[in-house]
Amino acid sequence: MEEIKFNQIGVSFKGSGSYVPDQILTNQKISQKVDTSDEWIKSRTGISERRISNLKENVTEMGYVAALNAIKMANWDIETIDLIILATSTPNDLFGSAPSIQAKLGAENAVAFDLTAACSGFLFSLVTATQYLKGGSFKRAIVIGADQLSSFVDWNDRRSCILFGDGAGALAIEATNLFDNFIGFDMRTDGERGSFLNLPSKNNKDSIVDNIDFLSGGFSSIQMNGQEVYKFAVREVPIILEKLFRTTNFSSDKVDWLILHQANQRILDSVGDRLKISKEKILSNLEKYGNTSAATIPIMMDEAIRDNRIKQNDIIASSGFGAGLSWGAALFKWG
Ligand code: COA
Repeated sequence: MEEIKFNQIGVSFKGSGSYVPDQILTNQKISQKVDTSDEWIKSRTGISERRISNLKENVTEMGYVAALNAIKMANWDIETIDLIILATSTPNDLFGSAPSIQAKLGAENAVAFDLTAACSGFLFSLVTATQYLKGGSFKRAIVIGADQLSSFVDWNDRRSCILFGDGAGALAIEATNLFDNFIGFDMRTDGERGSFLNLPSKNNKDSIVDNIDFLSGGFSSIQMNGQEVYKFAVREVPIILEKLFRTTNFSSDKVDWLILHQANQRILDSVGDRLKISKEKILSNLEKYGNTSAATIPIMMDEAIRDNRIKQNDIIASSGFGAGLSWGAALFKWG
């Protein structure tokens, strides 16, 4: 029989890293600020505590450490990195924080840029990086998800402030002509439903000189219609994953791990039920970190890779979803 050779460029996953701040905000502590309770938060979301950046931590600092840990696991020389994508909605420089991570790493041969897609940001960045690698433009990429939502949460709004925390995670991915471990993906947005979850600019009117007005910069706080976002997630995430399984000829029982954006334990359970994926395969660390936006998926992956739950060649189905509204899914093999 004729030997079948793999004659395309594929990708291989080489390393993971993460970083979360030390400062812990428990449900009990939040209930000193707003009218809520540990029991209410835990039963509605699965969250017990979340991490809050200290005054020196920001997206660049957190993203840098996560990236460095992924690079160490991959055992790469820093100068061999071609591409750094930072998924964030809370850069500490609105012109982009990825280049400052590049500079801190000393990755002088890499191009670095931010990608904003809120809680879908990591999934969208992962897809973006793999397409550059498969297209032959770059060989080694670092994809970082990092967010500091604590700076944009309305800490007087009990309907939203209980959900969010800070952190960063990263993956090291490289091109290979031996196989392709990125099996497939899909991505969607629906701006019509954008008002369900947003972080709008303040748009305060000011004037420069007579008759020339302008809108001053700056952002307000996270505004969320929790029930609508919940309904969106439990409806759209199973649909996009089922479609991805169909188009890639995969059945959900072949999946070793379901790694969803960590938003709410009830969303994770509901999606798992719809896809008939058993609870043991659905990774969750919501209890410890809450929703860290673009960072949830890579933090969860790094944790499960380092404690040996995720092993070489395990099949991972992942979905990110959130503001935009935006959502996406990816199917890949670790290693
Ligand atoms: N503590 C105590 N009571 C609270 C509360 C809190 N932290 N937050 C809301 N409540 C109250 C409400 O005021 C309301 O009381 P009322 O009926 O007297 O007005 C009641 O609880 C029910 O509110 P509701 O908004 O219907 O709760 P819910 O069951 O939908 O749970 C969320 C709220 C936010 C936990 C849930 O909607 C959710 O998780 N949605 C998805 C949000 C998300 O994941 N966002 C990020 C996506 S990337």
